[in-house]
Amino acid sequence: MAQNWNPTSWRNKPILQVPDYPEQTKLEETEARLSKFPPLVFAGEARALKNNLAKVANGEAFLLQGGDCAEAFAEHEGDNIRDFFRAFLQMSAVLTYGAQSPVIKVGRIAGQFAKPRSSNTETKDGVELPSYRGDIINGIEFNEEARVPDPERQVMAYRQSAATLNLLRAFAQGGYANLVNVHSWMLGFANGSPQSERYMKLANRISESINFMKAIGITPETHPALSETEFFTSHEALLLGYEQALTRIDSTTGDYYATSGHMIWIGDRTRQPDHAHVEFCRGIKNPLGLKCGPSLDPEELIELIDILNPENEAGRLTLIARFGHDKVADHLPKLIRAVEREGKKVVWSCDPMHGNTISMSGYKTRPFDRILTEVETFFDVHHAEGTHAGGIHVEMTGKNVTECTGGARALSGDDLSERYHTHCDPRLNAEQALELAFLVAERMKEGSKIITDAATA
Ligand code: PEP
Ligand code: CO
Repeated sequence: MAQNWNPTSWRNKPILQVPDYPEQTKLEETEARLSKFPPLVFAGEARALKNNLAKVANGEAFLLQGGDCAEAFAEHEGDNIRDFFRAFLQMSAVLTYGAQSPVIKVGRIAGQFAKPRSSNTETKDGVELPSYRGDIINGIEFNEEARVPDPERQVMAYRQSAATLNLLRAFAQGGYANLVNVHSWMLGFANGSPQSERYMKLANRISESINFMKAIGITPETHPALSETEFFTSHEALLLGYEQALTRIDSTTGDYYATSGHMIWIGDRTRQPDHAHVEFCRGIKNPLGLKCGPSLDPEELIELIDILNPENEAGRLTLIARFGHDKVADHLPKLIRAVEREGKKVVWSCDPMHGNTISMSGYKTRPFDRILTEVETFFDVHHAEGTHAGGIHVEMTGKNVTECTGGARALSGDDLSERYHTHCDPRLNAEQALELAFLVAERMKEGSKIITDAATA
């Protein structure tokens, strides 16, 4: 077990991004209630994900992580979960078949509620109110009452996470993810788009492979891998009182696990080595993510790796690079070289969203070409350094929203108002997500071709 650590030791450290709860007693009562609620995930699943991520760290698999920037109580609908899962399965089919690589599937879902904010307050028409910090903390409506942090929201978030996870488990294991359904995952609205044509061609290839396998006796009945998929959940571990309440000892190993989700990550604003968020995360055994933005220098990264993964266990730590399209080429190589020099085992993943946010027509948006450029550069850098571009981390939805500009339908600033639904950052819509998956699959194929050519030369 981590030295001098317990689930409350973070409380003695400096902490950023904490909500100002007016009623401390109510907060404590709520956390005490939550600490008796059933775990949402169990330790064995978190270990399974860690083993899968170890394959990514070793260059043998790819990590696809994605979902909402912030889940919302008002968006808690079966159709939304289904559409997200369908878009995610499509991306993963493109990556698995396009690049012939196992894909580890991790949603930003069933717990992704708390948001770090760059400012404590928000001003509209001369009125200043506390910032919205995610539905688990306060309300998005711009009035004083909604913005007061309410502990009861933690219970709501827990219940929504449980219900979401329940449906995701059913989809993943109950037949929906069966590869024979690969054609029906195509979402109606994307028909007629260039992506849908590309996707259907790929789906036809998958069906042909399935028919071939059937002919030689390999069917979903004999091989459950064809009809089921492993799907994991993740979120930013920002609201530490909630995380602590859901931290439990695993009876088989005696280790502490966060049971709020399979993987949790530390955000770019709360990764100070001597602060509370790093302290909490170092003691739990789940796989961890660490957002790496432009202000992180190589020495501090190594210090953080030593704290978070002292045993240098492959799969324990995923570094999520989020520099911005114009900064990644400058910052990423230095970090990769430090990690390689120190012999650290990590997964490198690319978040092309958070360094590419701009304002346009009064909306927060992200130009799709910048997102693609950041991913391309991420692959270029890894290729040049001889390391494995291990994954992508994206904000996406299965809905046909208009939040990021560009893409095959060339959404402009004027189109944003049409279907701008996000509670926080702009997400890729299903079509943009699929377009990104095709690009990534191409780059992965090129990478493996380079490796195969070198091996046979
Ligand atoms: C996020 O992932 O929504 C987020 C806030 O990211 P970052 O910590 O990288 O800014
Ligand atoms: Co975000």
